[in-house]
Amino acid sequence: MSGVSTPSQEDYLEAIWRLTQQKGYARVSDIAEYLHISQASVSKMIRKLKDEGWLEVERYRGLSLTSKGSTKGQLLLARHEILERFLEHLAVIDPMVVYHDVEGIEHHFSTETLEKLAALVDFIDQEPEWWKKFINRLPLIP
Ligand code: CO
Repeated sequence: MSGVSTPSQEDYLEAIWRLTQQKGYARVSDIAEYLHISQASVSKMIRKLKDEGWLEVERYRGLSLTSKGSTKGQLLLARHEILERFLEHLAVIDPMVVYHDVEGIEHHFSTETLEKLAALVDFIDQEPEWWKKFINRLPLIP
């Protein structure tokens, strides 16, 4: 979800992938609740995603992602998680702030930049000492 703005196609695919991972399926009502939008908006986007081959609609089980949709959903979630880990390394504590910041910026990263950021995040995990030095120098923001 991207705050007050309209969720993009990527937000839907990420949400559907998350819900599918958690519950085994995603219904229009689950997606609406997850993205804080109306079921009518969800239905409209679902039609578009279906036409573009991202998902299939099954009468009783809700939605399921096609293999193209699953691959994309997985990538979108991975991207979200890399950015989330980065903000956590920056000592952004409030999970709602982390979530909203990530939702705001995630669509704008190229694969190349994201791969480099992922390498940085891994490196911080492996070599935490130099990073701690930096974090200790950050001004305390109340
Ligand atoms: Co996201």
